[in-house]
Amino acid sequence: MNSFMSWVGGKKALREKVVRRFPLSYKHYIEVFGGGGWVLFHKPPGRDFEVYNDYNSLLANLFRCVRDKPDLLINALRYVLNSREDFERARLGLRKKRATDIQRAAWFYQIIRQSYASALTSFGSQPHDLWDDFPLILQASRRLKDVVVENQDFETLIRHYDRPESFFYCDPPYHATEGYYQNIGEAGFTEKDHIRLRDALLSIEGKFLLSYNDDAFIRGLYDAPGIHIEPVTRLNNIKQRYDPSCQFAELFIANYDVHERERAAVQLNLFDYKRGELDDEIQILP
Ligand SMILES: C[S@@+](CC[C@H](N)C(=O)[O-])C[C@H]1O[C@@H](n2cnc3c(N)ncnc32)[C@H](O)[C@@H]1O
Repeated sequence: MNSFMSWVGGKKALREKVVRRFPLSYKHYIEVFGGGGWVLFHKPPGRDFEVYNDYNSLLANLFRCVRDKPDLLINALRYVLNSREDFERARLGLRKKRATDIQRAAWFYQIIRQSYASALTSFGSQPHDLWDDFPLILQASRRLKDVVVENQDFETLIRHYDRPESFFYCDPPYHATEGYYQNIGEAGFTEKDHIRLRDALLSIEGKFLLSYNDDAFIRGLYDAPGIHIEPVTRLNNIKQRYDPSCQFAELFIANYDVHERERAAVQLNLFDYKRGELDDEIQILP
C-alpha cells in the first residue's frame, strides 16, 4: 500500500528493491529514519514487532494521530482551504507552544500537502483536494494499529532495540543533501552524524540494511569486513522532467547477504517447476 503523505527523500521509487533485500527471518522490524514510511507501508504486515521512528517530532506526532485518532485528524482537515493565507497561518500555528496534538498534526499535514515539492517552506499553488487524502489516512491508521511510533535520535533508538533477532532499515538523510531536513524546529544532519550512524551500526548484534546516495565518502565509511555494498540505480525524480532516462545512483549497504530472500524464492520456484514437470509426466503415463 502507499503512504498517506509525500516526503522529501521518500523511498516510493525504491521501496520494492528495499523490501526484496530484507533478511529471510527477523522478529523485530525497526524503521530508524521513518519519514513518510514508504517502506513500512509497502512491507506486508506479518507477525513481527514493528517500530516507526523519526527524530522530527512533528512527524512522529502526525503518525501517532493517524494511528490513534484518524477521525479527529480528518475533522480538523475538513475545512482547510488550499490558499496561501491558510498555509502561512498553519506555519505560524506550528511555532506556537500551546496547541493540541491533533491541531499540530493537521497543520503539519496541511503544510506537507500544500508546500512546493513537499519541502514545507513555500506555498505550492497547486490544486489539491485534502478530502482525497481521507481514505488514505484511514487505511494508514489500520496499517499502523500495532506499530510502535518513536521520536528518538537514531543512536538511542538503535541501542534500545538491538537484539540478535532485530532488523534495522535505515534511510538517513543522504550525504551532502542533509540541509533538506532542517525542517521547522529540527537541527539537521551533519557529517559527524553519518560517522555516528556507522559506528552505531557496525557494533550491533542485529541486522541492518542502509540506503544511501552513491558517494565516495559513504563507500569509504562502510569499507569494513563483513559489510556488503551493492550499487543500484533508479529513475531520477527531479531530473526526469528534462531527461526521462536520467538515473540516480544509490547504494544498499548491509551486514548480511541481501540476496538470500531472492535466492530462496528462486529455489522455491525451481522446486514448483520440477513438480510441474513431474505432474505432466504423470498425466501422460498410460
Ligand atoms: C531520507 S528521509 C527518510 C524517508 C523515508 N524512508 C520515506 O520513505 O519517506 C530521512 C529522515 O530522517 C529523519 N532524521 C533526521 N535526523 C535524524 C536522527 N538524528 N535520528 C532519526 N531520524 C532522523 C528526518 O526527519 C527524515 O524524515
